[in-house]
Amino acid sequence: MSAKSGYEAGYTKYYGSRFDSISYSTSEEAIKHLYRDWASSYDKDLQSAGYVLYQALCQYLNESIKQECQDKSKNEMKIIDVGAGTGLLGVQLHELGYTSLTAVDISAEMLNEARKKNVYKKFICAFLSDQRIPEIGTSEYDALICAGTLVKGHARSSAFVEMIRIVRIGGLLCFSIRDDHLGAYQEKMMELEKDRRWEKVSTKKIPLYDSDDMPKDILGFVYRVLKN
Ligand SMILES: C[S@@+](CC[C@H](N)C(=O)[O-])C[C@H]1O[C@@H](n2cnc3c(N)ncnc32)[C@H](O)[C@@H]1O
Repeated sequence: MSAKSGYEAGYTKYYGSRFDSISYSTSEEAIKHLYRDWASSYDKDLQSAGYVLYQALCQYLNESIKQECQDKSKNEMKIIDVGAGTGLLGVQLHELGYTSLTAVDISAEMLNEARKKNVYKKFICAFLSDQRIPEIGTSEYDALICAGTLVKGHARSSAFVEMIRIVRIGGLLCFSIRDDHLGAYQEKMMELEKDRRWEKVSTKKIPLYDSDDMPKDILGFVYRVLKN
């Protein structure tokens, strides 16, 4: 979400200067501050901007689960939402019938907003990186979803290792990456594929915003865990 290329006016119109100082070396503290200050108006701002990714990505995961994980009912599927923010994805997943949901986010204020949605069973305040998050067991989840968090200054590519660890073998990871940020993630994605840690199930363009002054789409990915 932080890259403005081609859509400077739209980003400034809806988000002001929030992303101006975000770079690939932005610290965890700076990210915490950004979302602490944004939490109470985040949903309203995103709605004004025409943000639709949260719906599209949940739909993508739902379709992929139907095709790839027929062994469990929706209620039994444990799903972890990484960079859950205010819980927009949780609401969608819940409406789709998934009720065993966990939210992870570095911002306590964003998680407090997510709590109000009454859809997650568990909340974990942690920064996703290559470090193990002690509250999350290996193979604990059937699927992971991550929207708008694999972006400049947020979760780095090294976080894929921890994302794989917490999903069971055969489970799915579904996430979005803007094409102008893909360069920062692609090498690690390919390395993990080469090492047979995960395999790509599918990738496709999915809707990001439906406003004319914002980028229309983003790359969605679904991977299956092979080894954690
Ligand atoms: C752009 S918001 C996306 C929120 C939500 N997924 C959505 O689509 O509305 C990014 C969220 O990721 C969180 N975040 C950023 N980097 C993170 C990291 N490395 N680990 C955990 N949360 C992170 C932020 O606090 C923020 O709530």
